[in-house]
Amino acid sequence: MACILKRRSLVVVGVIVVCFFLMVLRLISEMKLPLQRNSFDKPIARWMPFSYPQNGSIRTHFGYVNIRTHEPLQLDCDLCAIVSNSGQMSGQRVGNEIDQSSCVWRMNNAPTKSFEEDVGRRTTIRVVSHTSVPLLLKDPDYFFKETNSTLFVIWGPFRNMRTDGNGIIYNMLRKAADRYTDAKIYVTTEKRMSYCDGVFKKETGKDRIQSGSFLSTGWFTLILAMDACYGIHVFGMINDTYCKSDGFRKVPYHYYESGKNECDEYFLHENAPFGSHRFITEKTVFARWAKKKKIIFTHPNWTVS
Ligand SMILES: *[C@@H]1O[C@H](CO)[C@@H](O)[C@H](O)[C@H]1NC(C)=O
Ligand SMILES: *[C@@H]1O[C@H](CO)[C@@H](O)[C@H](O)[C@H]1NC(C)=O
Ligand SMILES: *[C@@H]1O[C@H](CO)[C@@H](O)[C@H](O)[C@H]1NC(C)=O
Ligand SMILES: *[C@@H]1O[C@H](CO)[C@@H](O)[C@H](O)[C@H]1NC(C)=O
Repeated sequence: MACILKRRSLVVVGVIVVCFFLMVLRLISEMKLPLQRNSFDKPIARWMPFSYPQNGSIRTHFGYVNIRTHEPLQLDCDLCAIVSNSGQMSGQRVGNEIDQSSCVWRMNNAPTKSFEEDVGRRTTIRVVSHTSVPLLLKDPDYFFKETNSTLFVIWGPFRNMRTDGNGIIYNMLRKAADRYTDAKIYVTTEKRMSYCDGVFKKETGKDRIQSGSFLSTGWFTLILAMDACYGIHVFGMINDTYCKSDGFRKVPYHYYESGKNECDEYFLHENAPFGSHRFITEKTVFARWAKKKKIIFTHPNWTVS
């Protein structure tokens, strides 16, 4: 009797061990997959395991879903131009160069109208903060009808983006999508939002929420662009020491608004105890990414040593 019991428990233990082994094998293969498929220059082991696997030449980005069809975003670019909203763009006259990129990325409500010579005309994709959605809705005909080939990717916290009828910003977007049926509006999933938080924690060692800060639209833009583009030119973005360097160019915070000054604004945000962006910390991280990926910062030009 004792002998039979012993044999039975041995079998049970054996089955458990085999199951566990299979689970580990599967985990490992899932972690390897996105790494191997990431064709962007040199793959980075540090953060790809959390990314989503991609399929074929049209890359599918499962962290962003169409608000009407619920389909994931499909975007595959060669050379991308990311145009900063910074006053650094004023007078750069790089509009033509920007428009020749395979995809042109803009952020929030940054206009092209009457700034074409400096910032270009085309917009392939616009990454928009939940706080900037009301600004788009001030001129919905322009954003969702005239420029109806543009993809919109909206990011925001769960409380504003929840889909159960209580997400204020989500509701606004739903309404716009119902009215402008050709508009391509995507929302960032909750899972992808926490992935972006996770990247911040990994890169800075700081928990974003505990440190009382918000990620910037630039952060979300660069993370998606690194998945969707084979190379990136960032226009008008300064580096982390620019505002402390000799003879830096004093420019407005945004190229389309006067009033706030770029460096003043950066210092204000960096040092605020809560409710602010960490633009300077983020730039340090961007510089690190630029060492490993095909990212070039231009106008002002800066290289990563
Ligand atoms: C992946 O791509 C192949 C062809 O490239 C296609 O047949 C398949 O449906 C795709 N799978 C998904 C999940 O999109
Ligand atoms: C999309 O934009 C083009 C170019 O501005 C315009 O001709 C067309 O009517 C727009 N489509 C819709 C459905 O508004
Ligand atoms: C950052 O920008 C400043 C001002 O343009 C420059 O002096 C400095 O060398 C740059 N730093 C890096 C690492 O490129
Ligand atoms: C900045 O870099 C671009 C392209 O790499 C180059 O065309 C331009 O002349 C550079 N500008 C300055 C001021 O060095």
